[in-house]
Amino acid sequence: MKLLAGRPGWTVTADVIVIGSGVAGLTTALNLRSSNLSVLLVTKAKIDEGSTKWAQGGIAAALGPGDTPDQHKKDTLIAGAGLCDGEAVNVLVTEGPEAVRKLIARGAVFDKSETGEIALTREGGHLRNRILHAGGDATGAEVSRALLAAVNGDSGIEVIENALAIDILQSDAGAVCGVTLHVIGAGSRDGVGRALARAVVIATGGLGQVYAQTTNPSVSTGDGVALALRAGAEIADVEFIQFHPTVLWRDDSLSGQQPLISEAVRGEGAVLVNDKGVRFMKDKHPQGDLAPRDIVAIEIFKQMKESNSPHVWLDTTKVKDFAERFPTIFASCIENGIDPRKQMIPVSPASHYSSGGVKVDLAGRTSIPGLYACGETACTGAHGANRLASNSLLEGLVFGTRISADITANIAEQSVPSEKNSTEFLLDPAIKMTLQLAMSQGAGVMRSAQSLGETLTTLKQLSTHTSDKPCIEAWEVSNLYLLATAIAQAALKREETRGSHWRSDFPESSNEWVKRIVQSYDNDGIWLSKLDEVKK
Ligand code: FAD
Ligand code: SIN
Repeated sequence: MKLLAGRPGWTVTADVIVIGSGVAGLTTALNLRSSNLSVLLVTKAKIDEGSTKWAQGGIAAALGPGDTPDQHKKDTLIAGAGLCDGEAVNVLVTEGPEAVRKLIARGAVFDKSETGEIALTREGGHLRNRILHAGGDATGAEVSRALLAAVNGDSGIEVIENALAIDILQSDAGAVCGVTLHVIGAGSRDGVGRALARAVVIATGGLGQVYAQTTNPSVSTGDGVALALRAGAEIADVEFIQFHPTVLWRDDSLSGQQPLISEAVRGEGAVLVNDKGVRFMKDKHPQGDLAPRDIVAIEIFKQMKESNSPHVWLDTTKVKDFAERFPTIFASCIENGIDPRKQMIPVSPASHYSSGGVKVDLAGRTSIPGLYACGETACTGAHGANRLASNSLLEGLVFGTRISADITANIAEQSVPSEKNSTEFLLDPAIKMTLQLAMSQGAGVMRSAQSLGETLTTLKQLSTHTSDKPCIEAWEVSNLYLLATAIAQAALKREETRGSHWRSDFPESSNEWVKRIVQSYDNDGIWLSKLDEVKK
């Protein structure tokens, strides 16, 4: 299956194509340069667009005195609620410290303590201070800056901005041989073209825009997961959408990207209170306000329901030097008329992170030969049912390194794109808001068979709103539709509560559900779903 698009009018070639310029794509591209392979990095907007530059809290790595990868592993497994792949977590926590050192060697500058050591803070679910941060709460911006400087200084990486990857090109045997792209450019590379390569890495980030309110930027429409799915790759764990507990609440009618109030603010002493001024997390979990974020998000949801209020409050008035420690958050609060040094911040949960994605092995390989996935797009299994805070930037660094090593060692010869016709589809961009609201209402923080059934009915109706006018908005909304359907289907199937998947009609976890839901399309375009065992 493919998206409806014009015939490619131009061709470009490279050994490897990396799609996306966040931490995952940039790390992969840079590491590939230790081989002689030519790298083409395509990215759908400006090169610094994506979730990476918005990351606030930091990067988790066992670098502090007394901390160990084993302790980091324990915290990751607890947050992942029984669904983490043990080997993937091992890789993440043991290779993490070295990956962070390499990032520092590439120029990233992290905040220091008064003694000159790297300052480490704490976030939800961590039993140690192990979060490195930069510019206070501007960690992602610094990571992005440092990696982009390295990429810009490397003439072996060709970058095309405003280049949206539409679909994968495959040989008759199914191996990847490139992508179709739409470029807003000038001269010979404008409109739809094709980029041929011997390996393709999808690093297109998350899919937060499936929901009406999200912390994710507008480019996070899950294009990579959707194009992998259309190409026949397996996707897994997509029902585990993490809702960040503390997103600045402004107005329920606002949609799109909303300002995040980092978990690190609670790490520095802020506490959650309800409308009556009661600290409601205190008795709910041994870690209180710093419980794993699925637990905090659902508790906030319950408090909001009980008090019929659109938000709870984050009391930040006792956080030391708020403006200096959290300059980005401070500025966005002030912009919205709140002084967090003196006033409490209204917060509510919003979609933040996709713990699932394109199913990959420990080398980032998907089920399609030559096709890799990295970062938030991928499902390595390291996050299980709920990602531990600040493990995401780390995953991009660690698996970007592994993928480049695997490509360098195993890259195949260029294969020829198949001439076979595929079914094409395209939806009308006008359905976007209805789709997002249906997902927020029926497949949000709390789900049930009834709410998910209603969402799936709406999605089915929306699928009849086809379009014959290919454009960026139509490709994006078609991707959102595929992912919304995959999320709602898996959420309906999983009849239990686990991690960030809460079912009001199945409020307990069930041992029968220590399994991952894997979805794919077969060659006839039939949607398949199976259950995989979890590797401990
Ligand atoms: P991204 O950084 O999102 O990059 C994706 C790239 O793909 C972008 O360049 C995009 O333009 C491009 N792209 C998308 N579709 C296409 C297409 N069709 N064709 C071509 N290019 C395409 N994680 C942490 O570990 N610590 C934190 O403190 C933290 N804070 C966060 C705060 C916020 C507000 C948000 C939104 C996320 C935060 N996260 C944090 C999560 C983390 O930032 C992301 O999971 C991570 O940055 C994802 O990196 P990535 O490289 O996979 O994707
Ligand atoms: C935050 O700063 O709270 C976000 C951290 C994360 O998503 O890992």
